[in-house]
Amino acid sequence: MKDFVRVGLIGFGKQGSHYVRSYVEGRLIPQFRLTAIADICPEKLKWVKDNIHADIECFDSAEAMLSSGKVDACIVTTPHAVHPENVIQCLRHGVHVMCDKPAGVHILQVEEMNREAEKHPELVFSIMLNQRTNCAYRELRRIVQTEEYGKVRRINWQVNNWYRSHVYYESFDWRGIWKGAYGGTIVDQCPHQVDLWQWMFGMPDKVTCRMGFGVHHNIEVEDEVSAILEYNDGRMGTFNSSTSIPNGQNILEVNLDAANITVKGDRIYVEKFCMPEPEWEKGPRGIYEKPVVEPVVEIPTDGKNLQHKGVIEAWINKILGKGEGANDGKEGLDSVMLSNAMYMSAFTGKTVELPLDGKVYYDELMKRVAVSKTKPPVADPLAPVRETFSIKDPKQVEKYFGITERV
Ligand SMILES: NC(=O)c1ccc[n+]([C@@H]2O[C@H](COP(=O)([O-])OP(=O)(O)OC[C@H]3O[C@@H](n4cnc5c(N)ncnc54)[C@H](O)[C@@H]3O)[C@@H](O)[C@H]2O)c1
Repeated sequence: MKDFVRVGLIGFGKQGSHYVRSYVEGRLIPQFRLTAIADICPEKLKWVKDNIHADIECFDSAEAMLSSGKVDACIVTTPHAVHPENVIQCLRHGVHVMCDKPAGVHILQVEEMNREAEKHPELVFSIMLNQRTNCAYRELRRIVQTEEYGKVRRINWQVNNWYRSHVYYESFDWRGIWKGAYGGTIVDQCPHQVDLWQWMFGMPDKVTCRMGFGVHHNIEVEDEVSAILEYNDGRMGTFNSSTSIPNGQNILEVNLDAANITVKGDRIYVEKFCMPEPEWEKGPRGIYEKPVVEPVVEIPTDGKNLQHKGVIEAWINKILGKGEGANDGKEGLDSVMLSNAMYMSAFTGKTVELPLDGKVYYDELMKRVAVSKTKPPVADPLAPVRETFSIKDPKQVEKYFGITERV
């Protein structure tokens, strides 16, 4: 057996170019060998030939690359809606595959992808849910699962740190419109948090959501979201997001029986109660008395936040038969289901129960797609790629290409 994997990239755009730079700068494990790139944009392939001095073959379609026999595995980094089609192509060619987030834009196409994956258990199908590598979320998930501070009572997540200006929407011919991205904030920026929600707290049973479409940007899709996520036992949470707040915060507050927990970035803080509230509440108490709480302290974690690098390495190791750390690509369905439920509620003005029927959502989504306007081609398709390769800020470079480990 070889001790390396020949990897092909499908989609050399903004995110694909991060993976390529990461590879050519030697930031990935040596077992990862980028041997081919497929993209439908000839300018991008020319740019690779002219600028990347590595042994990488270029193809004008995923099919041509997959038929060439030059790759054992592929990373799919095409626009969201194309992911399932590309993943299915890879699997049918006997090629391991990493799907970038989100798994797709609607339940039906992701279910079809997962059915194909079921037929190929010998292939490692993984998904780039890189935020799951964050030490703070991993620790919170452990706390919730072990019930270290009792049961979760309420969750409030404010995800306002995905600021996007008009330049972002103008840089891609598919973003900002229903028939290109099939959604905005939720499908484009927040798939990470939507996935983390169900990964840490479980799938809610009901979703009520309001969205503002093109409130602060000249786009068809949403840039404002407020959702209530409910569980059948009566617990509730809120999920709010806007892509129009400069320096907006990403703050997750979780109230449990015996503590309040807050996550900010890769740090997690706890405020413990003197005893679990359900127990405390039984004693004789004053009318407005409250449980005594301890001062807020940071919860120690392993400090690791490996992000894309960690997900890719776990996938490569699993392909090579070493380690079990890779995400199962089929898990991408859960966050697509939850995000579809948010849209369904916003489209209809009604509360939506989960699981959601994929066909019902598809029909509702296609009503928006049918009246969606085509965007003109972008003025400079190479701008996102050049931007990636010109990043100088060490923090940004570390975020995308290196190990982000707190010291
Ligand atoms: N995991 C993360 O942190 C992260 C971050 C950003 C983007 N992404 C994901 O990456 C994907 C791509 O986003 P982007 O910003 O790079 O977009 P992009 O438009 O810059 O790149 C997409 C590329 O795919 C190519 N393409 C389109 N259809 C194709 C096809 N059928 N075959 C081959 N190539 C095709 C386009 O020419 C383009 O170069 C999105 O799904 C996005 O959600 C993930």
